[in-house]
This record gives sequence, C-alpha cells and structure tokens, in this order.
Amino acid sequence: MIFTQLNLGACQTYLIADERSKQAILVDPVLEHVPNYLMRIEQQKLKLTHVIDTHTHADHISGAAALKDLLGCEYVMHQNAPARCVTFHLSDGFECHLGNSLVKVFATPGHTKDSITLIFPDRILTGDVLFLDEGGAGRDDLPGGDAGDHWESLQRILRLPEHLLVYPAHEYRNRQPSSLKQQIERNPVLKPRSKQSYISYLEGLQLGPADWMKDVLKANYACARDPKAAWIPIDVPACEVKGTLDRGANDQQVAAIPPNAVKQALMSASPPVILDVRNPTELTGGLGQISGNLNIPVTELAHRLGELEPYRQREIVTVCKSGGRAHTAAQILMQAGYPKVHVMVGGMTAWIQTEPHQ
Ligand SMILES: [Fe+2]
Repeated sequence: MIFTQLNLGACQTYLIADERSKQAILVDPVLEHVPNYLMRIEQQKLKLTHVIDTHTHADHISGAAALKDLLGCEYVMHQNAPARCVTFHLSDGFECHLGNSLVKVFATPGHTKDSITLIFPDRILTGDVLFLDEGGAGRDDLPGGDAGDHWESLQRILRLPEHLLVYPAHEYRNRQPSSLKQQIERNPVLKPRSKQSYISYLEGLQLGPADWMKDVLKANYACARDPKAAWIPIDVPACEVKGTLDRGANDQQVAAIPPNAVKQALMSASPPVILDVRNPTELTGGLGQISGNLNIPVTELAHRLGELEPYRQREIVTVCKSGGRAHTAAQILMQAGYPKVHVMVGGMTAWIQTEPHQ
C-alpha cells in the first residue's frame, strides 16, 4: 500500500493507494493544495476514486469538492455531514477494501457530529478525534461539538488493537505518528477518566476565539471552491485544545513583549536573541525580518534545539508572522528548560508598523 502525508503545514492530507490497481483515496484534502495533489496523482499514475473528509473542517477549506469536480471521484463523508456536495455518505460500521486492505469506519463524534475514524489493518486515521502525544485531541466547543460524545468516541478507540499507528488530521509540532499503545502512555485524553471529569475539564479550558472558524465551517457546508471563501489566520494551532489534562509545560504562561520593547532591547548592552520561526521563504517577503535573527521553522524546532544551546542563558524572543507559531515555539523552549523566553506580540505584522517610515 502507498501511504503518504502530502502537506508541509499542520493540516495532514493522506494519499493512500493500492500499488497494483493504482486505485487511490485522499483523506482530508486542503483546497489550496489541490494543484499539488493533482500533480502527485499524475506523477504516480494513480486513479483517485474517493476523497474523504474525516469531518467538516473549521480551520481550512476542504479540497474535496474541487477534486470531485475535477476528477469525477466520489466525495465521502459521514451521513451527518451537512455539505450538499458529498456524493457518498457513510454510517458507523461501514467496510470496504482498498486493494487487499480492509478499511473499516467508526463514527467517532465529539469534535463534530460527523467525525469518523478510518481503520486500516495497521493504522487508524483519527481526524481530530485524537491527536498525537500532548496534543490531546480536537476542540469540542465549535458548532456540533460535544465533549461527552468525544469521551465516548475515545473509549471506543481505546478498545482497538494497540499496535495500530495513529495518524491524525493535524500535527502542529512535528510529532511523529506512533502506536495506540504509545498514545495510551503519552496522550492525556486517553488516560482513565470519567466522562463527567472529561466534560468538566473541557468546559474549564480557556480556548482561543473561534468566530473565524465558524465562517470556515460555513464555507465547507457550502462546498466552497474558492480558497478566499473564508478568512483563515495561517499560524494558529486552531484545532488543538490548548494544554492537556495534566498541568504541564503547555499550560505555562508565555511572557509577551511588544515590538517597541524588542527594538529597545536590541539596542541595549545585552540584546536578546531573535528566534524567527517562520519558514525561510517568508523572511524574504514583504514583512521582512529582524536583522541578526536565527531562523528555525517551528516545525523543525523540537529537532534543532541543539542549535540554541549556546544561547540558553540569554533572553530569547520568538517571532513569526502574527504570533501563533512564535507562541508554540516559546512553549517548546520552555518545555526544554529555557529560562528567559518571550513572544513578540503581533509578530512581524506588528513589527513593521513600528517602523518610522511605514
Ligand atoms: Fe477539525
């Protein structure tokens, strides 16, 4: 079986194909990447027969409707999915084959009413029902979300064989898929806990604003084919529930510093280290970059911490476009024991507004 995750960012799109028949399915495609998917399918001489959304997404516009139009494939979702362009509705317990591989479907509501988990012989695609490690699981406060249902779905996943590898729809920190057994050890939402305790925990969380996500949901209900159908901030770990069931590094308060204060600090006798966690191509774009910065993309930070070791005792200011990725980066540094970490508020978008000629 061919199994490839196709995206560079936090949204995970899986191309799964049978090597012999070349039949392929695509799970959770993102609209703006559709041209890349088409190129990939063409290069590998695959025939895309089905695109599947594990649920109605709130953080990106699905590429499924566009792919259905372009390739004539089936658009598959759970029967509770409201999008009218879905051509094939699944219910709990549905089974089919991709080549020789049996694929089973569990309805796993909670994050949304239409969430499904795809079960292959050696892995599960969990959508936002289960993320990796301390990432926990998707948020339940959006329309259609239900923490009690989510708890029930997680109990069901816990009854699956422990060797199955877990592949979620999002990964914000470059964590690598691992077995359900390892997730039971590492992922706080899989720890033994009563349904009521799970609901109380989620109700107590201070989740970020979600108004823009409601607009994205509407765009997906309407089968939008225009990437600009809803405004989406690019660097917010939108679907991830902040923190975990255990109080850990993710719950630590990250200190913020405004751009003006960064500017002053840079002119002082002990200037901070500027850690820009955007992708390298963004540094040459319109927002520019702060002179002398270290550039490590947030998705690589956990693996490149050694490069920061010489600066461990210095003040480090994390920077990105608008603050989301920098916040994540600061948490990674704090988890690694860096004592003086700040996030530059508003990112480079705010920094350029402090430039006198702007
Ligand atoms: Fe989601």
